[in-house]
Amino acid sequence: MKQAKRYTITAALPYANGPIHIGQLAGAYISPDIFTRYLRLKGKEVVFICGSDENGIAITLKALKEGKTPQEIVDYYHELNKKSFHDFGISFDIYHRTSSEIHHKTAAEFFKTLYDKGEFIVEESEQYYDEEYHQYLADRYISGCCPICNHDAAYGDQCEKCGSSLNSKDLINPVSTLSGKKPILKKTTHWYLPMQKFEPWLKEWILEEHKHDWKKNVYGQCKSWLEQGLQPRAMTRDLNWGVKVPLPGAEGKVLYVWLDAPIGYISATKAWAAEKGIDWKPWWQSDDTRLIHFIGKDNIVFHCIIFPIILKAHGDYILPDNVPANEFMNMEGDKISTSRNWAVWLHEYLEDFPDKQDVLRYVLTANMPETKDSEFTWKDFQSRNNNELVAVLGNFVNRTLVLTQKYCEGKIPVYLEEVADYKIETIQSEIKSYLSAIENHLNHFRFRAALNELMGLARFGNKFLADAEPWKIIKNNPEQAKQILYIALQICASLCLACEPFLPLTAKKMAEMMCINTKDFSWDDIGRIDLLKSKQQLPKPGLLFEKIEDGVVEQQITKLKSNQKLRKMEKENIQHKPLIDFNQFENLELLVGTIKTAEKVPKTDKLLQFTIDLGSESRTILSGIADQFDPEEMIGKQVCIVANLKPRKIKGIESEGMILMAENKDGKLSILSPSDMIEPGSVIS
Ligand code: MF3
Ligand code: ZN
Repeated sequence: MKQAKRYTITAALPYANGPIHIGQLAGAYISPDIFTRYLRLKGKEVVFICGSDENGIAITLKALKEGKTPQEIVDYYHELNKKSFHDFGISFDIYHRTSSEIHHKTAAEFFKTLYDKGEFIVEESEQYYDEEYHQYLADRYISGCCPICNHDAAYGDQCEKCGSSLNSKDLINPVSTLSGKKPILKKTTHWYLPMQKFEPWLKEWILEEHKHDWKKNVYGQCKSWLEQGLQPRAMTRDLNWGVKVPLPGAEGKVLYVWLDAPIGYISATKAWAAEKGIDWKPWWQSDDTRLIHFIGKDNIVFHCIIFPIILKAHGDYILPDNVPANEFMNMEGDKISTSRNWAVWLHEYLEDFPDKQDVLRYVLTANMPETKDSEFTWKDFQSRNNNELVAVLGNFVNRTLVLTQKYCEGKIPVYLEEVADYKIETIQSEIKSYLSAIENHLNHFRFRAALNELMGLARFGNKFLADAEPWKIIKNNPEQAKQILYIALQICASLCLACEPFLPLTAKKMAEMMCINTKDFSWDDIGRIDLLKSKQQLPKPGLLFEKIEDGVVEQQITKLKSNQKLRKMEKENIQHKPLIDFNQFENLELLVGTIKTAEKVPKTDKLLQFTIDLGSESRTILSGIADQFDPEEMIGKQVCIVANLKPRKIKGIESEGMILMAENKDGKLSILSPSDMIEPGSVIS
């Protein structure tokens, strides 16, 4: 860790194609917010950067799905997400956008610099292209049959069934997810970054230099990438939405979103500095700046390998000093999933729990997926609120303030050293020891442990009050009781300053209750026993936190489950096919047949081979239903046949038609038969 004059702190730019959920908040936004607020209290120069990632195919696809333009999509979600972050007290200095002009200009210039330095290799290749949508298709937007496990809905980059990572050209029967049609292969040119060239340098920089200060989960992922060996990666894409490639002959091409998005941190810094009338350069180009990227684990390779290569290749920039990535947060026993609507969305939480942002911040910090995946449950949310925030922190502050009203008419007592039974120095050094533990944890990105120490300080306050028992002393020695309250109040004031990075709204409420202006103090004032002014009249205290009842969290669980059901039903709704003319129907030849023989095709899992009597002839038909039907039992049954399907060879056997089946949504099959026996060969119409 280097000694720094200033800090540039970034949080991953979320795609502006959907709302933000609690997993994202816990993964990449609360931790940098705590860290930045702490640095500000320490009096450090710091900028906290974020914004919307508005380029790339994730945006265009969402637009297509919703029948909107990409601009409409990003405009909508940019505002929604900006507001959610703001409402949760995430204190970005700027929430910028990668669709802005200054970003387009910055990213294009960056690309041009690398190009002029000869950092790219130009290569022509064949890529899948959707002729109906006039669009080259990223691997993710092609689906087909997995060459490894035969799963018929694998994506071009990965099969979700067997987990193999794929190349779209490996898929059997590829179709475009845009048009549903078979894509063609078309030649295209792209600019590649030969990442392998940087491998020796990265090995030295990450694996040696950052062996001890990067988190284990981050270091481990980098190591495995570097050991697998790096490949050239295309830095351009064929798409009509994004930062245009600033070269002649590159019409219709934009920068790869993972090239332009991290540069978004730089353009956001430029916009912020311009607004303030200061120079942006030291924040990115000066050796005494510490650059720290906060991200989730799916972004590690981009921030630890690709972006540093880009910065290094450019030459004018500093490199990240640390990338404290978190793992994922699961929820109620399952992975958080946007498509399954298994999530708690920030804007919805705020509707259901107005004014309880800090409760969520607290619970997400306490369960932050720092070293491994973690879990959010509503029960835990409730119990942490009731047993920790209400019973420990809220209780201590409230008791102290209520007793002050009762014994001191709501005025901060005067401290009389000769009366007090308590060694101020011991109390001070107790508080300071919690503080230095918090600092030490924060400096090592251990937010859970830091929060735990903060609660330790509140517990210490509670214990101090419980041991001193001012309610017993008040009768015989009121002056002594007031001294106890004086100290308890000062501990509350320290707590107020110390909890600001973690629970900013609570800190604000506490400051109002104690009439202190937190701006007058810095982190290093915490532990002072004169933070509150004697004789200051305090207002009647309110509660910092309220108990959350069982019914409230049960309702959230019900909501989650019914949301998911709804989504499932939407998905299961029959996708109706387009209308056809009667003669299209007439073109089908449907006949009744009687099964004469049925047997399993050897060396296959599912295939049955039938001989079917159609009266004037008999046909061989294959059907992949052996997992649900016993061949013996099918002999003699009547079935409906599509008789004019072109014959198809399967496993070397020619199949001359198809048996009709009904299939329910769980995949259960039922054979269609006429209700009474009828001559084989009878026509269905
Ligand atoms: N939009 C990306 C995501 O949500 C994160 C981009 S981070 C940045 O995964 F570095 F590219 F900005
Ligand atoms: Zn597979």
